[in-house]
Amino acid sequence: MTKHEDLLHMLLNAEGRFVSGEEISRNLSISRTAVWKHVNKLRDMGYEFEAVSRKGYRLVTKPDSIDATALQLALDTTIFGRKAILLTSTLSTQGDVLKLAEQGQAEGAVVIAEEQTGGRGRFGRKWFSPPGKGIWMSVLLRPDVPLQHTPQLTLLAGVAVCRAVRACTGADAGIKWPNDLLIDGRKVCGILLESTVEDHEVRYCIAGIGVDVNFDPEDYPEDLTTIATSLKMETGQPIDRTKLAAAILTELEQLYFLYQKEGFGVISALWEALSVSMNREITVTNPHGVIEGNAIGLDPSGALIVEKRDGERALVISGEISWKS
Ligand code: BTN
Repeated sequence: MTKHEDLLHMLLNAEGRFVSGEEISRNLSISRTAVWKHVNKLRDMGYEFEAVSRKGYRLVTKPDSIDATALQLALDTTIFGRKAILLTSTLSTQGDVLKLAEQGQAEGAVVIAEEQTGGRGRFGRKWFSPPGKGIWMSVLLRPDVPLQHTPQLTLLAGVAVCRAVRACTGADAGIKWPNDLLIDGRKVCGILLESTVEDHEVRYCIAGIGVDVNFDPEDYPEDLTTIATSLKMETGQPIDRTKLAAAILTELEQLYFLYQKEGFGVISALWEALSVSMNREITVTNPHGVIEGNAIGLDPSGALIVEKRDGERALVISGEISWKS
């Protein structure tokens, strides 16, 4: 860590209390003039401090944008997010990570944007990604799995984001198959897992995660008002996007490592426990047609098992589901 990151760490840990210049200079082994210089560097990055003689420095506000240094400090990972590119605006973070993947970037690299001008959703849909309101993030994975197992990663990503959202915000988020997050029936997060395949082998996957964090109702275009919601709207509080992004990456790495070690069984159980699609009469729509029946669980490959009215079971690996509320 650089000195200004160390300084930020100290002031963040003090949780708004004053830390004396003397203590900082002793802890970081730098002169009082250097402390002042590093404080000013953090000010340039959007942090605001109160400086009082004989008391020292106190962190008053953090920048509103997702902050690279604070992200590193909040991560509890070894590889996920350790290479993180933060952009003010981009077409789609999926495209940015695709470029990194093709350049040979290691697993766990992340691109996060304040805004996407061409955000993409599943089935070629647009993903509304206005500036400063959400987490628009793509993560590079290089899994050693056969192509038919990539749906497992789709489910894993949903579990990771759901756990992070619940832990960070207390919101009662549940997973709609395969990996949308819903709160009270409205979508708060979507995940797009895209895989690049060569000779039937997975070269890499890009997990694109979009979370509506600090939207107010008026931020939504008309077509989304009844189907989407944000964490701020659901909890009544603005959410620290940096901390939430770090929590998502931390959960993602932990589950990904667990999956590599133990296989899909544990992930499947976690998914079933967090799912709001289970044991419901659902309609699945995919290019093969429409299936109606009861969603009774996941099979070992990650497919959704749907029991039709005639008792026959269908395995569904792609598509969209709906149910009557
Ligand atoms: C869905 O349709 O539910 C999936 C939405 C995925 C959106 C995320 S935002 C970050 C990444 N970049 C994109 O263009 N899409 C994904």
